[in-house]
Amino acid sequence: MYDIPALDLPPLTAASGTVRLPGSKSISNRVLLLAGLAEGETVLLDLLDSDDTRVMLAALQALGCGVEQHEAGEAAGHAECRITGLGGRLAVHEADLFLGNAGTAMRPLAATLAVLAATQGGRFTLAGVPRMHERPIGDLVEALRPLGCRISELGRPGFPPLRVEGTAGGSLPGLAKPVRVRGDVSSQFLTALLLALPLVAGEHDLVVEVEGELISKPYVEITLNLLARFGIGVQREGFERFTIVRGARYTSPGRLHVEGDASSASYFVAAGAIAATGGAPVHIAGVGAGSIQGDIAFVDAARAMGAEVKTGPGWIEAHRGRWPLAGITLDANAIPDAAMTLAVMALYADGPTLLTGIASWRVKETDRIAAMAAELRKLGAEVAAGDDFIEVRPPARWLPASIRTYDDHRMAMCFSLAAFNGLAAGQPCGVPLRIEDPRCVGKTFPGYFEALFGLASADEAEVPVIAIDGPTASGKGTLAAAVARALGYHLLDSGLLYRAAGLAAAADGLSPDDEVAVARLAATLDLRFEHAEAGQGGTAHDTAADAVPDAARGNPGEPTRVWLRGREITAELRHESTGLLASRVSALPAVRQALHGLQLSFRRAPGLVADGRDMGTVVFPGAALKVFLTANAAQRAERRHKQLISKGIQASIADLRADLEARDARDRNRAVSPLKPAEDAFLLDNSDLTIEESVAQVLGWWQARCPFAEAQAHTPTP
Ligand code: DC
Repeated sequence: MYDIPALDLPPLTAASGTVRLPGSKSISNRVLLLAGLAEGETVLLDLLDSDDTRVMLAALQALGCGVEQHEAGEAAGHAECRITGLGGRLAVHEADLFLGNAGTAMRPLAATLAVLAATQGGRFTLAGVPRMHERPIGDLVEALRPLGCRISELGRPGFPPLRVEGTAGGSLPGLAKPVRVRGDVSSQFLTALLLALPLVAGEHDLVVEVEGELISKPYVEITLNLLARFGIGVQREGFERFTIVRGARYTSPGRLHVEGDASSASYFVAAGAIAATGGAPVHIAGVGAGSIQGDIAFVDAARAMGAEVKTGPGWIEAHRGRWPLAGITLDANAIPDAAMTLAVMALYADGPTLLTGIASWRVKETDRIAAMAAELRKLGAEVAAGDDFIEVRPPARWLPASIRTYDDHRMAMCFSLAAFNGLAAGQPCGVPLRIEDPRCVGKTFPGYFEALFGLASADEAEVPVIAIDGPTASGKGTLAAAVARALGYHLLDSGLLYRAAGLAAAADGLSPDDEVAVARLAATLDLRFEHAEAGQGGTAHDTAADAVPDAARGNPGEPTRVWLRGREITAELRHESTGLLASRVSALPAVRQALHGLQLSFRRAPGLVADGRDMGTVVFPGAALKVFLTANAAQRAERRHKQLISKGIQASIADLRADLEARDARDRNRAVSPLKPAEDAFLLDNSDLTIEESVAQVLGWWQARCPFAEAQAHTPTP
């Protein structure tokens, strides 16, 4: 995940390839609650792992449910979450639950605990982040109180935090009459009742009646569908009257597979419609035809705008069709979340787009009507907005913009599509885009940007490079990794490639001076990297098996483990003897040439930090920022000594100093790509600087040349 204050996107020029979607948020939080209420164990496959599901899981644990999680691995293809449910009986009678900003946790848990406390006794508080306390829940409270539930609003009336309580052996006399709930603010109130009331279904049918026109109907259909999977029959008359049949009892389906998130699919359908212009489409795996999620209907809206979209069971494929896209007029009441994606697609249309029926945007993670209007205008669009509509006219000319995301995952995801602006009709070249606080995507799709960069390409020349060169043990590796982390950029440790080439040569019994043989081997290095925290927090594997590897695809930062020809070399890479081998093979021109293409392939969106000896002089001579790091030999020998001692390796400082001076001399005096500062490099002597001071200096130089220097200063840090 991009855990940084702001992410700068270079102009993106194309999209193709496959993306695997995380599980649906709506399905995940509903089935978690259902599994938690049912008797016995339920195994949930490919459940979403995100902020919103984590708060639900933590709540279930606090209530005494069993929770066991297994990541998807090579042995098991699917991630598994095993929930042992309460069988409808409270195991814990007092708890304070923190539910973040997850409406899909707050509303159903409030209803569930209200009826359980009223009948079995208990006292529970439900709270969230400040924005959660601005999101209405009054209609649900008003529906539950007449039943006999005791609910206190601990802050503002009609909003969380709430306390629900009751005494053992209590009853809900109000259930004899239909339960009435308003449906025109959020469909989650009805969903909450439908999920909770089967707990107290006895001899009689329970009736829920909706007042006002129900919005977001497809989400209620998801609820009914999943209730059926857990053995609860609900009869409905239109969307006005729902009857929970008497004797209803949650029964675990045993195993349940969670579909990929259809709202998350919308960003990739849009990417395909805008930027899949070659032969290959954007292929989206995890959701498709037959989905139970209403947002799958986004596909029809995208088609109406001109996208070419195919669907099959569990997949969607999108390709550019009409270009520019066509503006549309659409009542988006049924697809409120995915409709935000349409509003950004509208920037690429040749006419205005009018979306109506979106009043619910006002009570979501942020006031989405206001937020969308403000940020679309920054890009140059003309926007009209009212209580329940937004109209977008595409920019005559796109403007570079720093997009505020309002702690709203969908703002960050849908606005990332504006990075394709260089493809818009009449736009002479792409303008840069900044997404502020990109980590907010963690609410539903922690690996979103990695997935986007895995599919999207940028013109190489547009992908910024920061080159950090310097002698051995100058601390450039540590500095480069820290700078890459701070900017969310990819990292190229070019020394690692020479070290790996040296190890491969040694393994084959080659002399490190056999230029032809070592070069042949370097050209086809079979390297594999593992990065921590790819996608949703698991690990990812990249290969660099040939001259066009995707070593850096969608995985910024340092690799945590490295394999050469299937053998792990993580520890061996750092040995002094490996460094010496590398110094010898790197003096051979043919070896340097053989590794050239591999190094260039690390230059991928959103940017690259490359460290070595010749990053700024030979490999990336056009780098946007070049830093030449130095430190006196005594300091460097001492640092190397500390490093070795910390790993339990004994060494003498004098020997280390002699070694590194010899290595410097060889790196400096060799005929090809000698170690020297580029003419336009900033010199940084870090002999007396801490690593933090060096990082701050480099980031300072970088900021000074960034188009959003101003906006960066205003980005709030958490
Ligand atoms: O940075 P390092 O210590 O991992 O590099 C190992 C050797 O590889 C170093 O002695 C010189 C060589 N090297 C090089 O010649 N060019 C680079 N860009 C990086 C490393």
